[in-house]
Amino acid sequence: GRTRHYKFNVVAKNFTRLCSTKSIITVNGRFPGPTLYAREGDTVVVKVANHVQENVTIHWHGVRQLTTGWADGPAYVTQCPIQPGQNYAYNFTLTGQRGTLLWHAHIMWQRATVHGAIVILPKRGVPYPFPAPHKEVVLILAEWWKSDVEAVINEALQSGLAPNVSDAHTINGHEGPASGCASSARDGFTLRVDQGKTYLLRIINAALNEDLFFKVAGHLMTVVEVDATYTKPFTIDTLLIAPGQTTNVLLTADQGAGRYLVTASPFTDSPLVAVDNSTGTATVQYTNAVSTSAIATTKLPPRNSTSLASQFIDSLRSLNSKQYPANVPSTVDHSLLFTVGLGVNPCPACPNGSRVVAAMNNVTFMMPTMALLQAHYSNMSGVFTTDFPGQPPVAFNYTGSGPNNTQTMNGTRLYRLPYNASVQLVLQDTGIIGPESHPVHLHGYNFFVVGKGVGNYDPTTSPSKFNLVDPVERNTMAVPGAGWTAIRFRADNPGVWFLHCHFEVHTTWGLKMAFVVEDGEGPNESLPPPPKDLPAC
Ligand code: C2O
Repeated sequence: GRTRHYKFNVVAKNFTRLCSTKSIITVNGRFPGPTLYAREGDTVVVKVANHVQENVTIHWHGVRQLTTGWADGPAYVTQCPIQPGQNYAYNFTLTGQRGTLLWHAHIMWQRATVHGAIVILPKRGVPYPFPAPHKEVVLILAEWWKSDVEAVINEALQSGLAPNVSDAHTINGHEGPASGCASSARDGFTLRVDQGKTYLLRIINAALNEDLFFKVAGHLMTVVEVDATYTKPFTIDTLLIAPGQTTNVLLTADQGAGRYLVTASPFTDSPLVAVDNSTGTATVQYTNAVSTSAIATTKLPPRNSTSLASQFIDSLRSLNSKQYPANVPSTVDHSLLFTVGLGVNPCPACPNGSRVVAAMNNVTFMMPTMALLQAHYSNMSGVFTTDFPGQPPVAFNYTGSGPNNTQTMNGTRLYRLPYNASVQLVLQDTGIIGPESHPVHLHGYNFFVVGKGVGNYDPTTSPSKFNLVDPVERNTMAVPGAGWTAIRFRADNPGVWFLHCHFEVHTTWGLKMAFVVEDGEGPNESLPPPPKDLPAC
C-alpha cells in the first residue's frame, strides 16, 4: 500500500444551527470533519495540530491498530492529550479491513463536534462482493446542542443527575428541512440521484448519546456491511445504528422522479431515559424531478420500537464467503462475564444526596492521570492494577426483583490477557435504575457477536444456541436492556485496549474498563517503543 498524509488542524469556528450561532471545536473548520480516504493496506499519517485552548486526542474508531496502540487515541488510555499548541502524528496501517469507520475526538465530550468518516476502499482491482454502485456517499448522523457540550456534562457531574439531551439530530451537520429553522433547502443535506441507479450509502452514527433509526421515504435499503466487515445482504426499510457503529447500504433510485425525506430519529428501550425527540432530516432528490415538488415523507418508528430494533440486529450475519471467511474462535481460553449498568451512589454534596454512577462488574473505572499504555510499556507501578473481576462480584437477577448491587467500587482495574488468548465475553445489562441497552465498543479488535438474549445469561444453557458459523463481526455491539450479548475474539493485538459504552454519558459515569494484552514471542507480536512525538502528561 501507499502512504497517505493528512493534516488535521484543530480550530474553533462559529456555526449557526437551530437559529443561533456558537463557536465549536472542529477539524479544519468543518462540521462534520474531513473524510479520511485510503485503501486496504495503506499507511495513514495524520498530523494533528492543536490550535484550541483545550486538550485534544483523536481516535480512529474500529481501526485494528495491529501493534500500533500508540496511535489509537483515547486520552489517558493510550496517550496523554495533545495540549494547546502541540502536535502529534498518528501513524497506522489499515490491515485486513475495508469499509466505513469513523474518527472522533476521545477526550471528555469533544467528539460531539470533532468527528468524521474513514472510508477504506478495497485494494486496487478488488471488487466489492456486491454489485458496484453508481456512486458512494457518506452520511454522518450526529447531534447539536444549543449550549456548550462540555458545560452540559460538567453541570450533570456536579448535580449527580443525568445531563440535558441534545437539541437536534443532524445529518451531515444539518438539522435539515424539517426543522423550523431551515431558511432554505440548502440548510439540509441533499443527495441527488439518477433514476434507476444504485448508490452506496456509508452511514455513521457519530452521536454522543443516542441510538438512531434511519429511513429513506419510499425506498428500501440493502445492508451489505457493518463496522467495516461485509455482511450477508438483507433488505429493510428501517435500519438501527448505535453511536460508534457504521452501516453500508445499497439504495436504488427506483421510485417516481421526486423528492424523498431522509430521517434519523431516536430509539431507546428504556421508558426512563430522556432522549432528544427531534428528527434529523435530509433529502433524496431525483435529478429529473421538479425541484419544487413536495417532499414525500415517511412514518417514523416510535422511539420504543424494541422489536423492530432486535429484528434488525438479529438479521446481521457475516458474509462468511471463501474470500471473506468468519474465523470465529472455536475454543475459549478466557470465559468472562461482565455486568454493565447504572446505579446510584451516595453523594452528600449533591442536591438530592446521591449521584448516578455506571460500572462494569461493579467497578466504576477511574481514569488515571497518565496513559495506561505508557505505564504498561515501562512497567510503572501504581497507575493501574490487573485485578478486574472476570465474573460479577455481586449476584444479579433480571427475571425477578434485582438484588441491591448498586454500590460500586472505584478503581483503575485492568484485565490481563496473554497474547493470542481466545476470549469469550458476555455483557449482561444489570441497570438498577432501569434496564437500558448499551452500545459497547472494544478498541483494537473486531469481535464476533455469537449470542444475544433477554433476561439472565445462563452459562449452562445459553452457549448451546451460539452461532459459531456466520456471526456478525464488528467493533461496537448492542447489549439489550435487561439482556445480554456474547462476543468472541482472539487477543492478537498487544497493548492496552479500552472497552466502554459508546453512550458518552455512560462512559463519563464509569462504564468502561481496559484489557492489557501481553506481547507475543514472534515477530510483529509485540508493542514497539512509543513514537518520539507522543505527548507527555
Ligand atoms: Cu469510538 Cu473509545 O471510542
